[in-house]
Amino acid sequence: MTDLECIKFLQWSLPRMRMRWPGFRKVRGQVCKRISRRIVTLCLPSVVAYQSYLESNPDEWKTLASLCRVTISRFYRDKGVFDYVGNVVLPRLAGQSKADVRCWSVGCASAEETYTIRILWELRAAPSMIGKTMYVLGTDSDPVMLERARKAAYPASALKNLTPDLTAQAFEHSGDMYVLRARFKESVHFEERDIRESMPQGPFDIVLCRNLVFTYFEDALQREILQKLVARLRLGGVLVTGVHESLPTDDFGLTAKASAIYERVA
Ligand SMILES: C[S@@+](CC[C@H](N)C(=O)[O-])C[C@H]1O[C@@H](n2cnc3c(N)ncnc32)[C@H](O)[C@@H]1O
Repeated sequence: MTDLECIKFLQWSLPRMRMRWPGFRKVRGQVCKRISRRIVTLCLPSVVAYQSYLESNPDEWKTLASLCRVTISRFYRDKGVFDYVGNVVLPRLAGQSKADVRCWSVGCASAEETYTIRILWELRAAPSMIGKTMYVLGTDSDPVMLERARKAAYPASALKNLTPDLTAQAFEHSGDMYVLRARFKESVHFEERDIRESMPQGPFDIVLCRNLVFTYFEDALQREILQKLVARLRLGGVLVTGVHESLPTDDFGLTAKASAIYERVA
């Protein structure tokens, strides 16, 4: 399949899955390779034949959706965002009167951002707040990613944005991998969930929804999901998005606090 054929195919198929082409433009290489492999596995002669196959086999759309998952992530992705979370958001939440802080990482991949926030809590915010616990839930639709999340062993490249002191305190070096120390896995849980189909109950103090909904999903689906995310945020709770993402402009009761950080105010 040529690049042009793949682009045409994605522009045809993505809207049928409520996704949008612009989100995939830069990352299409890996998605196109997976689709090519799928076409070979099905012994189909061309991408046009795969289109017909999809039309007559509705179950195949689920497989195609799984081929379109982009799973890139790393610890402390977007330094400015995690600096703000660590220096402003977490200390504020730690200082509140209620006992625990609850956080949800949507589309958590191998838990790089999920554990980043747990590490920040433990090493930056919690030392002054003895007795408070942060619970973190990571959800993703990809079971392979969740298995890696539970293992919590990473190559050095995943940690390159973390400061040396956070790396040294949070990880043990084992062979060519960095393994998260057990105390940072406490109170962290994972669930397999497709955000389009189900969400945890909440309420949460922080929802991280980064580099998924507001990049890859069509506008109407973004609105539907955002409304449900906000409903799961406590008043004063914080939604964190990707730095290259913008939220639908309707009034969802959020106010921007910093780049990619929104507080629920209504
Ligand atoms: C690009 S990664 C983002 C990881 C992390 N949030 C970050 O910003 O670094 C997107 C993740 O969303 C997951 N994903 C894709 N579609 C999903 C869906 N419909 N429901 C839940 N997770 C999904 C993928 O498996 C992948 O792990």
